[in-house]
Amino acid sequence: MSESTEPKSVSATPEPQVHNPEAPVYHPVTGKKLNKNEIQKLTSESYIKRQKYRTEQEQRRKNLKHVRIEEEHLEQNTTDLPKKRFYRQRAHSNPFSDHRLEYPISPAHMDWTKLYPYYIDPEDSSKLTKQVTIADIGCGFGGLMVDLAPEFKENLILGMEIRVQVTNYVEDRIIALRQQNLNSEEANYQNINVIRGNAMKFLPNFFEKSQLEKIFFCFPDPHFKQRKHKARIVTNTLLSEYAYVLKEGGVIYTITDVLDLHEWMVKHLDEHPLFERLDEEFEKTDPCVRIMTHSTEEGKKVERNKGSKYIKCYRRLPNSAVL
Ligand SMILES: C[S@@+](CC[C@H](N)C(=O)[O-])C[C@H]1O[C@@H](n2cnc3c(N)ncnc32)[C@H](O)[C@@H]1O
Repeated sequence: MSESTEPKSVSATPEPQVHNPEAPVYHPVTGKKLNKNEIQKLTSESYIKRQKYRTEQEQRRKNLKHVRIEEEHLEQNTTDLPKKRFYRQRAHSNPFSDHRLEYPISPAHMDWTKLYPYYIDPEDSSKLTKQVTIADIGCGFGGLMVDLAPEFKENLILGMEIRVQVTNYVEDRIIALRQQNLNSEEANYQNINVIRGNAMKFLPNFFEKSQLEKIFFCFPDPHFKQRKHKARIVTNTLLSEYAYVLKEGGVIYTITDVLDLHEWMVKHLDEHPLFERLDEEFEKTDPCVRIMTHSTEEGKKVERNKGSKYIKCYRRLPNSAVL
């Protein structure tokens, strides 16, 4: 049977697309079904503005985070410092969750040249002329590193931060500071950088045995409830890891506004055989104690709220002291 040559009837005007307000709406990225409040939030002016800002910054970050900043980069990009309000994120991050973090399988596999391109070895471009020796664990918005940079020009300083947006902020802050201070005698911020990482899991993947001279724990998350204490950044097991990456004579600096957490850290550090408590004279005279007391964002918040700050520092003992 031959096929009919009759044209199929085609409606001249398409069916009108009626928007059904009851129809489910899904998140464009996660695909999760959204409730009324979430829809309102995603279509609000402030949300759209924040997304636009983040997209622009992300592009800039992609272009500049791994390059040695030169004069030419100043013309192509704004050198404004990032605006913290666009990087808001939940205050706490569960350190036991799977954050899909990238980390090297060993320190030898870590490519530091991307973080500190200014210090690339002219004889071997796959290496730096120096190693990271100062670590700020849970660096937050990076205030400590920014103030340490000019005081420790000879050292490379690394912040490790678990929250994505907070890490992005610090990266953008460092790019802007490097641009603004390209020819500065005072500080050029080439010696600081940040990585997104979980210090409770991967520290020995980044640092070799005895590599670090100083480790800072500034205003760590307090994890108040007893069942959450295991999430604290200082525990007996973690202290052994910190002792491993810290060189003999190196120093752990702690500061918090939470007395209970302070007592917890002091107890664990006092009990650990590889650490020795430093006295008040050290606290009064050490430049890092002065800097960490006033430079971090959390510390400034505590100052505004007239809270207390509890400080203790510990020296890494030689292994022979416990043998
Ligand atoms: C209360 S804030 C203090 C930030 C900064 N040190 C300051 O004083 O302003 C604690 C920071 O540690 C980060 N953090 C918590 N657990 C972490 C972990 N396991 N590894 C890396 N960063 C962590 C949090 O995301 C948060 O930014």
